[in-house]
Amino acid sequence: QTAEFKELLLKEFHRVLMGASKVFASGLDAHNTYDVRYNSSHRRKGSRHEVMCALKGVKIRTVTADDEPFRRLGFKIPRAPLQEGRHYNTCAVVTSAGALLGSGLGKFIDSHDMVLRFNNAPIENYTESVGSKTTFRVLNSQVVAKPEFNFLDNPLFRDVSILVWDPANYSSTLEDWYHYPDYPLFPVYKKLLERNHNADVHLLNPQVLWSLWSVLQDTSPYRLRRNPPSSGFIGLWFALHRCSRVRVFEYVPSARATRRCHYHALHDDAACTLGAWHPLAHEKTLAERIRDNPDVQVFQQGFIDVPGFGTVTC
Ligand code: C5P
Repeated sequence: QTAEFKELLLKEFHRVLMGASKVFASGLDAHNTYDVRYNSSHRRKGSRHEVMCALKGVKIRTVTADDEPFRRLGFKIPRAPLQEGRHYNTCAVVTSAGALLGSGLGKFIDSHDMVLRFNNAPIENYTESVGSKTTFRVLNSQVVAKPEFNFLDNPLFRDVSILVWDPANYSSTLEDWYHYPDYPLFPVYKKLLERNHNADVHLLNPQVLWSLWSVLQDTSPYRLRRNPPSSGFIGLWFALHRCSRVRVFEYVPSARATRRCHYHALHDDAACTLGAWHPLAHEKTLAERIRDNPDVQVFQQGFIDVPGFGTVTC
């Protein structure tokens, strides 16, 4: 049953990726919103070791208090971003996938030294499925910018370390990005830093998104959508830098997967799991390739287990 499900799932990833790639080849998808330039000379098949080294080569870079225009504009960005220097043994990266609902994985998730969650994914009323501990959150800029998320006052975002991402054009400087973010996150961020000098909340340098995207494209036989990776992939990459072992929950879908998008909302949309805007199907293909735990854990229990970058010599 596990082997059958695995085969079906990997075929489905290929089908999605091939479909998107055909659209590209036909010239129908001329979108290149972020003006991404790709040098295919780095393309390689990607053994597990090569993929790990390519990802490890993308360093964690966040906007600092010395970066312009943030320095000039008086952003009080704290030094030592995101618990810098702190290392964890076991880490749980909890996606927001619908398949987590009813999983009973909460206790196991909470047993990890660090737990990373995404966006506005709640824990209240869902602890049996997703646990209750939160160490980090990775947020897209909509969560910071849109009033409905109430970023400044929502307790979900208090007393946790937060990494926020927002895409800039491929060749943009931070100055360009400041003037043309995807969502207006900067005034809210400034306000937060003024209110709370010690908030461990940092903006991912947007160039990192394109470095990660390039690793994805370098390791895919298909042409990928030229959009940033999902929060889930950013969370996995971040955790691999900081942890000896990273377990990612319901990223590679298990046999529990349904069309439900999020564990915390009724909405159905298979694109949440397989990808529409993000190159999600390839992110997941790659995640499946770098995990080293048994199939039954992945496809029945619902998590992949990946050794951290510290264990890889490149
Ligand atoms: O939807 P949202 O971006 O808030 O979800 C957080 C992350 O969880 C996504 O970026 C994606 O990587 C992962 N996810 C998933 N399958 C789903 C929903 C979310 O893999 N059905």
